[in-house]
Amino acid sequence: MRQVAIIGAGQMGSGIAQTVAQNGMQVLLSDIDLAVAEKAKSGIDAAFGKLVGRGKIEIADADAYLARITPVADNAALADAELIIEAATEQEPIKKAIFEAAGKFLSDGAIMASNTSSIPITRMANYAPDPARFIGLHFFNPVPVMGLIEVIPGLATAQETTDRITAFAEGLGKQVVLSQDEPGFVVNRILLPMINEAIFVLGQSTANTADIDKGCRLGLNHPMGPLQLADFVGLDTCFEIIKVLYDTTGDSKYRPAPLLVKYVEAGWLGRKTGRGFYDYSGEAPVPTR
Ligand code: 3HC
Repeated sequence: MRQVAIIGAGQMGSGIAQTVAQNGMQVLLSDIDLAVAEKAKSGIDAAFGKLVGRGKIEIADADAYLARITPVADNAALADAELIIEAATEQEPIKKAIFEAAGKFLSDGAIMASNTSSIPITRMANYAPDPARFIGLHFFNPVPVMGLIEVIPGLATAQETTDRITAFAEGLGKQVVLSQDEPGFVVNRILLPMINEAIFVLGQSTANTADIDKGCRLGLNHPMGPLQLADFVGLDTCFEIIKVLYDTTGDSKYRPAPLLVKYVEAGWLGRKTGRGFYDYSGEAPVPTR
């Protein structure tokens, strides 16, 4: 692939854009508002700046990577892309609107992929112009650092699409896990019940935030405890994923923890809002419970 479009310039979209540009491809970074896409490009510039500062990459390389990223807001620009990756908010109506609008400009032979964390690929393929060229491509946060991408073909996805997307993912230096189109795919099906359970443990006052996270960091050798990770992913995203698992299976083991629902209702969504299970207003995060 030479040119890849990414729709949604938030945390995941920016990370994907950075990774794709670092691997030699041109990137069209799209959002509803050009200013949002431009701000995301500045954020990527700052990330490259940190890597230069730590001696991880050369300044000339950072400049070359950044020059490959073009912020756009007009869907017509997407016609030049061989791959369009949707990385918008984890809400199906928003994704549907994107697939329908961007789909009008999907060029012949180009692939449309969704970075959804849990919404069924087979169902969303109906919103795209050609379900045979629609697939799930699930990145992990922070994208430039994490070594995994899940590839999820829907029922109508052509084998050629799966093969091309797998080659693309491997070309980013990532390893691929192939998942059937089942709720939560592989990793989130396992991760989200763990995060949700940690919130039950907190809600029942079995232990406080610091001890729950310490327990999992030291007892399981996880780099982050589940509550810190929930804040990192975003509590709204965690809620959307566990809700998909609950709604699609009807299995009560996936019922969202009441405290998670409350935090989302309060707008305490984790790192991105400055407060979740930790308060991020100071230099170091402070547990809120
Ligand atoms: N670009 C390139 N490299 C970056 C980077 C970026 N934007 N941000 C960080 N890095 C690199 C740093 O240079 C550093 O590299 P080095 O080890 O070679 O020096 C390395 O990443 C670690 O960074 P830091 O030292 O700044 O930070 P930490 O050591 O505290 O690690 C972390 C931070 C990598 C986020 C680690 O805490 C971690 O792995 N946490 C768990 C993350 C996780 O589980 N993610 C998955 C979430 S689930 C998901 O995404 C699915 C979704 O659908 C919900």
